[in-house]
Amino acid sequence: MKKYLNIIVAGLVIVLVGYFLFFVQGPGMFRTSPNLPMNPMNESGNNTYNQSNKVNESSLPIPPMLEDINPDPNKAEFQITAQNATKEFVPGVKTETMGYNGDYLGPVLRVRNGEEVSVKVKNNLEDEITTIHWHGLEVDGEDDGGPHSGIQPGKSWTPEFTIEQSAATLWYHPHPEQNTGRQVYKGLAGLFFIEDEVSDHLEVPKDYGVNDVPLIIQDKRFNEDGSFQYDLGMHDVMQGLQGDTLLVNGAIDPYLEVPKGMMRLRILNGSNASVYELGFDNNQIFYQIASDGGFLEKPIEMDELKLGSAERAEILVDFSDYNNGDIVQMSNQGLEFMKFIVNGESENQFKIPDQLASIEKIDLEDAVRTREFVFQGMGPGVNINGKQMDINRIDELVNLHETEIWEISNESGMGMMGGIAHPFHAHGVQFQIIDRDGNPPPPNETGWKDTFLVYPGEKVRAIATFNHSGVFMYHCHILEHEDAGMMGQFKVD
Ligand code: C2O
Ligand code: CU
Ligand code: CU
Repeated sequence: MKKYLNIIVAGLVIVLVGYFLFFVQGPGMFRTSPNLPMNPMNESGNNTYNQSNKVNESSLPIPPMLEDINPDPNKAEFQITAQNATKEFVPGVKTETMGYNGDYLGPVLRVRNGEEVSVKVKNNLEDEITTIHWHGLEVDGEDDGGPHSGIQPGKSWTPEFTIEQSAATLWYHPHPEQNTGRQVYKGLAGLFFIEDEVSDHLEVPKDYGVNDVPLIIQDKRFNEDGSFQYDLGMHDVMQGLQGDTLLVNGAIDPYLEVPKGMMRLRILNGSNASVYELGFDNNQIFYQIASDGGFLEKPIEMDELKLGSAERAEILVDFSDYNNGDIVQMSNQGLEFMKFIVNGESENQFKIPDQLASIEKIDLEDAVRTREFVFQGMGPGVNINGKQMDINRIDELVNLHETEIWEISNESGMGMMGGIAHPFHAHGVQFQIIDRDGNPPPPNETGWKDTFLVYPGEKVRAIATFNHSGVFMYHCHILEHEDAGMMGQFKVD
């Protein structure tokens, strides 16, 4: 197996060198308008914001809250249907998409800690298997929605589980074997909110769609006819699919009217592969209040937020010092992709809280072992510990309720262009990051994490207690790497 991988890598090195001689891809490849005839780009190929782009301007779509059809306050029951659809991202141009209960993305499922939840998931996709995975949710393997829980076309799957974790912004997406990247790219993804006593009592905005707004950020490539381009070229196999057009909640270059007050933004990097570096055009300061698995202990002041694929962050942005009509733009790597237009007074006067939640630090002494995971290889040879995903093989056995340290190193593509960052993710569990190359993690990584970037050459140690049984996945969340086999299985029992 190792020999085989080495041959693949050697072949790739040759192809790659040639490839990179011809295509130099730097940062700043994102535009806010797709490469369609109706959106002329300037000579240099960069996006300039001008009248011709206005054709795309639309107000930010807010994903609907899914109705809980169980009247019992301690139980929640939802229905989700995965389906094919078409959507006009650019007026007059139809794109074939997939959506949950709609044409693109899906509704928000909102549940409470302690609640018993059942979700009936129907697969109405034409001729393809799908699954629905609750990313970040601590449930048993049989309810987790990984590749073992395939739903045949026309069939349904109804997982039932009890919520046993604190308030957080999680998400759901398909996870079929070797077809996750394409299905997510086509639009299958949605948010999953958990609320609890802490989130009830915190003095932060919580009026959904008004001052508590989700931003699902994704990047896409469009073909000339408006269709999504998902033919993986060499660059996509290497780096994962990186688009040139950013979407927020499925809209290109949207705007959101905000009152002069505090806004809470729940941000998901819903891209297949890209790392975003988010900020505002005027360097407006903001505060991160939550990471993947819930609230941080204290708000973290920042002017740039880095998020790898699948990572979430909740931030507070104070618009109270602006005037009506002021426009603040959100940017990725300095390129603007969304506008906040200040308009009207806020009904509430929120301040940045001093304290958010208390997070009990897992004691390193509680760890019964350290398990090592090494990202290796590149392109079609990407693997973990020298192995590619095999659904018939369990790679790691973990004892139920034990605490372990997981040490993830990135040796993938080393020596080649410095390698790339891989976002590590494991199912059914939330981690606390111990250190990055022996140094404490940045303040915004001191809370619960289910996904974290591991930079080239880096070693990240994280600790978790495995309280749910079953078979779970660990993998790189660059979906093209996951589909290529940069994934393994651990069994907890
Ligand atoms: Cu976001 Cu294996 O998943
Ligand atoms: Cu997951
Ligand atoms: Cu990867």
